[in-house]
Amino acid sequence: MMQSSFSPIHKLEDYKPNPWLTPKLDLRFDLDLHLTVVRADYEVVLQSESIEPLFLNGESLEFLSLRIDGAIVDPEDYQVSPTGILIPHPPKDKFRLTVENRICPAKNTSLEGLYKSGSMLCTQNEPEGFRKIVYSIDRPDNMMRFLVTISGDQTLFPVMLSNGNLVGDKQFEGGKREVVWEDPFPKPSYLFALVAGELQETVDSFITKSGREITLKIFIEKGNEEKVGFAFDSLKKAMKWDEDTFGLEYDLDLFMIVAVEDFNMGAMENKGLNLFNAKLVLANKKSATDESFEAILAVIAHEYFHNWTGNRVTLRNWFNLTLKEGLTVFRDQWFTEDMTDPSVKRIKDVLFLKEFQFPEDQGPMSHPILPKTYKEMNNFYTVTVYEKGAEVIRLVSELIGRENFKKGLKLYLSQYDGQGVTFEEFVSSMEEVNGSAIPYLRNWYHRSGTPMISVKEIYAKDSNEWILELTDTGSSEYPLVFSNSFAVFDREGRLVREEKRVMSGARDQIRMAALDSKGTKPIVSLFRSLSSPIRLDYKQSEEEIKILAKVETDGVSRFFAFQNLIFEWFRKSLLFGKEDNFSVILETIGDSFGRNWDKTYHSFYLSFPGLTQISESIGCYEFTKIQNLRVWAIESISTTFTKEFQVLLEENRKTIPVQTKEEIGKRRLKNIALYYLLYDPSKKFERLAVMEQREAKHMSEEVSALKFLLEVESKEKETSVNLFFDKWKQDHLVLDVWFAAQVATGEDRCKIAEQLENHPQFNIRNPNKVRSLYFSLARNPLSFHKEDGSGYTFLAERIKRLNEINPQMAAALTKLFSPVSKQKGNLPKIAKKELEVLSNLPNLSRELGEVVGTILNSL
Ligand code: TRP
Ligand code: ZN
Repeated sequence: MMQSSFSPIHKLEDYKPNPWLTPKLDLRFDLDLHLTVVRADYEVVLQSESIEPLFLNGESLEFLSLRIDGAIVDPEDYQVSPTGILIPHPPKDKFRLTVENRICPAKNTSLEGLYKSGSMLCTQNEPEGFRKIVYSIDRPDNMMRFLVTISGDQTLFPVMLSNGNLVGDKQFEGGKREVVWEDPFPKPSYLFALVAGELQETVDSFITKSGREITLKIFIEKGNEEKVGFAFDSLKKAMKWDEDTFGLEYDLDLFMIVAVEDFNMGAMENKGLNLFNAKLVLANKKSATDESFEAILAVIAHEYFHNWTGNRVTLRNWFNLTLKEGLTVFRDQWFTEDMTDPSVKRIKDVLFLKEFQFPEDQGPMSHPILPKTYKEMNNFYTVTVYEKGAEVIRLVSELIGRENFKKGLKLYLSQYDGQGVTFEEFVSSMEEVNGSAIPYLRNWYHRSGTPMISVKEIYAKDSNEWILELTDTGSSEYPLVFSNSFAVFDREGRLVREEKRVMSGARDQIRMAALDSKGTKPIVSLFRSLSSPIRLDYKQSEEEIKILAKVETDGVSRFFAFQNLIFEWFRKSLLFGKEDNFSVILETIGDSFGRNWDKTYHSFYLSFPGLTQISESIGCYEFTKIQNLRVWAIESISTTFTKEFQVLLEENRKTIPVQTKEEIGKRRLKNIALYYLLYDPSKKFERLAVMEQREAKHMSEEVSALKFLLEVESKEKETSVNLFFDKWKQDHLVLDVWFAAQVATGEDRCKIAEQLENHPQFNIRNPNKVRSLYFSLARNPLSFHKEDGSGYTFLAERIKRLNEINPQMAAALTKLFSPVSKQKGNLPKIAKKELEVLSNLPNLSRELGEVVGTILNSL
């Protein structure tokens, strides 16, 4: 069947409930890698006043038969098209509809619907994959009670799973087996899951606060049995935390996780049967970095938390995706703050927001957290919907307080249990516990772009006061509400005032007493810990920023003050030459060695910002110039503090390979010290890095040595690359890091990427490999935005291939073209040419078509 290239636009304003619902579903699978037969038996009921046409979505399906109340329907009475089945005149307002079709999981490389990965068959249905499995009313406001029968060959599929409880298991002669799963909770199609294959089962359990024992199972491919311990611990911590924090207890007797090798995103919260990208489940100290351990903890928690925020209370339509994602990201961020260190976690989240979400919101893909239109929903699983969405929820918690927030969430979940709702219902529950409305809060859902708050300082002589005038310089159509936590310091760095203030609408005025009778201006730290997701246009003197970088009692804002000091230096150096006063930065770093800070915190403070971060922060896209300055700066820090870094390295050398705060901190500090030492122009520390790699007891140590040697173009880099490969060639997940490291920094990495994509272990069908190689390359500005355009040509060619294989990955990769309009010379022109070629591809997918179109509009 040909796919029509015309893709309709879905508009929020057009949303209507569907005239028909299918509250009950008997679903049957006769599994076969190449020809799986699926039969759905629906109870169909009319929801509207009078009988209307019934449409069932279906895509890439081979239609077999259609029955109503058991009788074959006359082919005159329905139409099958590439997008589904239309029954123009259904016979009555309630009937049984049975539809049968065939699919080929082995050929499904889109990784959506039912597909093959390794030795298993598995599903991915969010947002609209279910229609690639069976004809259905495939929308989240159609909640169904599922009874699922899976029939398959016992030797091929010894494990057969679906949501809920196992209620039947029969063996047949000839090797067939049939299992039946029943999910007692109604759910939309996107939460359905099926997994079948030759999997290893690992088991653990959890006792809930009311004393129920929940069986926990993690299914993996053979050989990974030693890598599930951390995932089980993470899951139990998440279950306990949701009980302790929100009183939320798990609602089935069985919770299952399956680790899948080929997976488009991180993980998926299917009811009782979460599917995970294997890299977010499997870990041990030998093969996983501290960052991947933390990602596992966070994502396992995230998916588990969806059981309430997403599954029990679900979405009315896809425009409201942020209702479950923003909220659940906020919940997982809070969880990690509680499990690790709140300041460090907040620093990571704000860094991520600034590096990825702010640019998205200032670029061609900018959209409100509640998008108003989409062509392909897959394109809207964005950092804006997720991370900015989480910031808006955090803002709610700042405005009403965390205790009220807990009450509000409980109220929301009890008011709307079993329903599909919108952000409006969430906001009203929060307002209800707050006792009053929160003006302008809703506008955060409708306004795109990062608000820019400009700050003016005015001295009022009469009262000897300083007045700060804050103005939201953005859209007057959508005034917003902000939470502004601020602090005031004197010139000696003493904290003199701390306050939390609500700014409602576009303007605010803060008055503060001068520091002395001469009218000395206080030093102010605004929006501490980023208490609202904004950018600040506040021209503070270098002296003021320096003081904040040392004394701000809020560790997050202290960290960002130091970053600002660094960005200011780049800004000035690009204008006036690098001699411009670097000593302020050296002095601040020197000062930090004497503090008794948490080790992880200190390691973040010492981490020099990356090229993209610097370029985004100062709005300059001359990467080579910035890079030269950056190298000069790091070398200066290195040579100024050689002794200090050597001491740090020695003191933290002996780490025990366990995931405790202390040991993680030691590893980080040691690695940051090694990083600076490697920038010593004498190159005398390079051998030390190779030794570190050889003797490493934890993957974090091994990977750092490899990455750093590659970044500094060490003559030892080949040794390091080979050493790493020889040791890890059997482990796909570790090799992903190896692929990525070789293209993530430095110039001319396209050539290396070309060699690497011919490597026997590379596979363009595996999204983790695509991410490692192509995404890493496209996030390396020196190679991707190279003046001759070779980076663009390279990437466009791979996008073209991916369009045929996995449209979702093709579109995601294309988004990395977003900043091209800001680039120098011929680059925008070259990008335009490449994107135009893509937009004219004969089999242009809906996913790719939408993204290419949007970026082209900006050129
Ligand atoms: N709902 C998933 C989450 O927890 C994300 C998701 C959406 C997803 N579409 C997907 C995951 C496709 C894997 C594949 O954030
Ligand atoms: Zn999610």
